[in-house]
Amino acid sequence: DWTMAAYREEMIANIREQVGDSHVICALSGGVDSSVTGILLHEAIGDQLTCVFVDHGLLRLGEAEQVVQMFRDNYNLNLIHADESDLFLGELEGVSDPETKRKIIGRLFIDVFQKYADQIEGAQFLAQGTLYPDVIESVSFSGGPSVTIKSHHNVGGLPEKMGLKLVEPLRGLFKDEVRTLGHELGLPASFIGRHPFPGPGLAIRCPGEITREKLEILRKADAVYIDQIRKHGLYDEIWQAFVAILPVRTVGVMGDGRTYDFACALRAVTSVDGMTADYYPFSHEFLGETATRIINEVKGINRVTYDITSKPPGTIEWE
Ligand code: XMP
Repeated sequence: DWTMAAYREEMIANIREQVGDSHVICALSGGVDSSVTGILLHEAIGDQLTCVFVDHGLLRLGEAEQVVQMFRDNYNLNLIHADESDLFLGELEGVSDPETKRKIIGRLFIDVFQKYADQIEGAQFLAQGTLYPDVIESVSFSGGPSVTIKSHHNVGGLPEKMGLKLVEPLRGLFKDEVRTLGHELGLPASFIGRHPFPGPGLAIRCPGEITREKLEILRKADAVYIDQIRKHGLYDEIWQAFVAILPVRTVGVMGDGRTYDFACALRAVTSVDGMTADYYPFSHEFLGETATRIINEVKGINRVTYDITSKPPGTIEWE
C-alpha cells in the first residue's frame, strides 16, 4: 500500500524526533495495536526500546505463550515477559463494579510499568497503541456533552508523577489502517487478523466478582467458541467474538443428575471501527452445536445464551 508506506516513514521520523537518545518502554498487550506500536518503534529506534508484556492473569487460554513466541520467532527486540497475575487478581478480589475494576487495572498497569521503567536506564517514554476511536470515544459521545462511557485503562495520559512521557504513534489511525501497517511491518497474517482484545481482558467479560475458578471456566468456554467459529470459516467475517461468564448459577440436568452451574453468554459482532456494531447472525444450527460442545466440554457451565444486542444501545463488551 503506497499511502501506508509513506505514512510509515513519516511516523518513524516523528518517533525519532520525539524520542531522541532516550529509552522507550512499550506496553505489549498481545493485541494488534500494541504489537504494531512495538514493531514500529523497534524499526525507528532499535535497542532504545524495551517491550514489556504484562500477564495480568486476565488473558485467554494459551495467549501469553503465543504472544511471546510470535515476538521471539519474528523480531529481535528486547522483550520482558512480566507475570503479574497474582498482583492483579489479588487487588481485584471481591470487586464487582465495572468502573472500579477498570480503575484498579489501570492503576496497577501504571505501577507495574513504573517498576520496569525504574530498572531501565534512561527510560523517559512509554509507548501505547492508542487508536483514533479510543481518543474520541473517551472524550465525547455523539458530539454531545463530554461523557465517559467506560474508562479505557490505556487512554487519557499518564499521571505526572510517573515521570514518563507518552509516545502514541497510532493516534491518527483506525483499526483497518493499523492492520495494513502491520502487514507492511511483516507481522504474520494470522496475528494481524486476530480480533481486538480489550486491555482489561477477561475482567470485563466476567461481570460480578472475578475468581480464578470463573476465569478458568471462561477461558475454556471461549476457546471452544473460537474453535467453532474458525471451523465454520467465520472468524474473518466477525469483528470480535468472545464468551462472557455470567454471575449466576442455574439448574440443569446431565445424565441422571441435577447440575447447578454457571450460565454464559456468547457474543459476536460485526463492526468497522468498534464505535457501532451489529450482532452476528449465526445460524441456529451453529448456535445449537456450539452450546452442546461448551456444555459437554467445559465443566462448570450448564447453560449457554446468545447476546443479540447491537451497539448502540449495548456496548460490545459486557462491562
Ligand atoms: P465497547 O465495549 O465500549 O468496546 O463497545 C469497543 C471496543 O473497545 C474495546 N475495549 C477496550 N480496548 N482498553 C482497550 O484497549 C479498554 O479498556 C477497552 N474497553 C473496551 C472492546 O473490546 C471493543 O473492541
